Amino acid sequence: MAVTLDLADIQGNILSAYGKLGFPKGRVITLHVSKPASGRKFVSELLPGITTALRWESRRKPSPPGTVEVKRPDVAVNIAFSFYGLLALGVPTRTLRGMPDEFIDGMMKRAPMLGDTFAPNQKDNWDEVWKAGEHDPVTNPKTVHILITLNAQMKDDGTPFPALEATTRRIETLCQTIGGVEILRGHGRPAGPYQELSAITIRQPDGKVVPCPKEHFGYTDAIGDPVFEGEFPGRVERADARGNGAFDGAGKWRPLATGEFVLGYPDEAQETSGTDIPLAFSRNGTFMAYRKLHQNVAAFRSFLETAGAQLAQVWGLPPGDAGAMLAGKMAGRWPDGVPMELAPTVADWDKFNKRYPDPDPKLDPKENQKRYAAREQALIDFRYNGDTQGLRCPLTAHIRRINTRDMLAPRAADGSVLNNRRRILRRGLPYGESPPDVSDAAEHGVVMLIVCASLFRQYEFVQQQWLNYGLDSNAGNDTCPIVGNHATGTGKEPKAKFVIASDPKTGRPPFIVEGLPQFVETRGGEYFFVPSMTALRMIGMGTVDPT
Ligand code: HEM
Repeated sequence: MAVTLDLADIQGNILSAYGKLGFPKGRVITLHVSKPASGRKFVSELLPGITTALRWESRRKPSPPGTVEVKRPDVAVNIAFSFYGLLALGVPTRTLRGMPDEFIDGMMKRAPMLGDTFAPNQKDNWDEVWKAGEHDPVTNPKTVHILITLNAQMKDDGTPFPALEATTRRIETLCQTIGGVEILRGHGRPAGPYQELSAITIRQPDGKVVPCPKEHFGYTDAIGDPVFEGEFPGRVERADARGNGAFDGAGKWRPLATGEFVLGYPDEAQETSGTDIPLAFSRNGTFMAYRKLHQNVAAFRSFLETAGAQLAQVWGLPPGDAGAMLAGKMAGRWPDGVPMELAPTVADWDKFNKRYPDPDPKLDPKENQKRYAAREQALIDFRYNGDTQGLRCPLTAHIRRINTRDMLAPRAADGSVLNNRRRILRRGLPYGESPPDVSDAAEHGVVMLIVCASLFRQYEFVQQQWLNYGLDSNAGNDTCPIVGNHATGTGKEPKAKFVIASDPKTGRPPFIVEGLPQFVETRGGEYFFVPSMTALRMIGMGTVDPT
């Protein structure tokens, strides 16, 4: 049965990846509550400004019929709470008791599972603000209780809309006037009061600065994102589910069950998610992992150069192509996003780009809309079942590990139950800059906001089993070539390696590269609950009724 979501009750960051929707600038504010009543007042005061999932008009596509639209905000404001934040705000024990273990533990306690006990992911390398988890979370005056995310539109000169600064000032003033709620500093190096975020931008020949969908290693990002029931209106949802949903048993794509991402709805096991928490409190809310990941861009570039030269030699490729090929095999997508599974060779890559060209500013907007839609669809609509040996896309490529599609399915048409229960929504934005002469001592990376109904079953599973372990990819202990742990615990383990299988018909040997440097390092994070607007009202009024 079709699911109709109460969009006015759901926070906007659950359904929308703001960065992609015209909000390329962001800021994260972390707060501590020392007086429960002050904390509740703060939440109530902020409440009318929280951005819900009600839709605003799209700049790319006409709105589907029946859509309720609100004015596009200059800055989207969302709020989330750590477990100790809910405790500090006076949420009753009976409600807190229903919260999942991993959320109660918090991210630092889950370090062994997340791969954060390995150098250099360990807490010594975390930003000051996230180190609070080392101390008693109840008595420590630095425990992060509240997370506010601001996502702003950008002016033509590359600066954020003034509403970003104005909203920050408003939050600061609220803290000062109410008292008992304090902004926690300690983001970045040197430590700043907030975590600043920004999409990577480029200056056009006319001087206008525009965002581009790249991350710091140079890949086009934010392409794959699960589609679930109720996320979009009817036909749009069915179309978007192609490549981003699950399989329906007849080999067709369908949207995933809502309960995988929003609490209070049936999930893929036909159980209602979030029922351990009183439903009135959990429904239309969800969980979110905040994960700040530093990227060693210089090490990555240098690796592509050296190992790319070896690949060029072993496979007889032009050196220019080999770097892109290696990067593509590691990610599962060529740097411009074209899927390896659909275009495993340079010639195929070229063909794909000719068939699905990018929009061109010189063309008519209608033609560009068509181009955009065709390419967007082609980039996600593929399966792995016809490539069980990873001859097109390596079994251990980042996107093949993290969304196995039909790879683990005994019958391709059914898709994989295993995979359907491990999907995550990715929100967040990059931080810092990565100019050509960048050093790894400079701070740049991505703040990932990973949204799912069960942090344990979805986020922690993929992080531990699929990124930092290789068994499901038939790769023993090989970790993800991009984000996995390549450093070792004791120094005695084998060096990290990456294998590109080769089609015997080509006569080329498989390519094996050993000693992968650590490309991505954890800089900290925490687990948060993202309440519905109803639950926020209850928190603010102190009327959470667990009966
Ligand atoms: C700095 C660290 C990371 C980098 C550079 C990175 C890079 C990428 C790239 C280039 C893509 C392909 C573009 C796309 O399909 O949207 C991708 C996809 C994805 N990544 Fe990551 N990633 C990082 C960390 C992570 C982590 C830690 C997770 C999960 C715990 C993750 C989950 C995903 C998912 C779910 C997809 C979409 C796959 C699909 O649906 O086919 N990524 N990432």
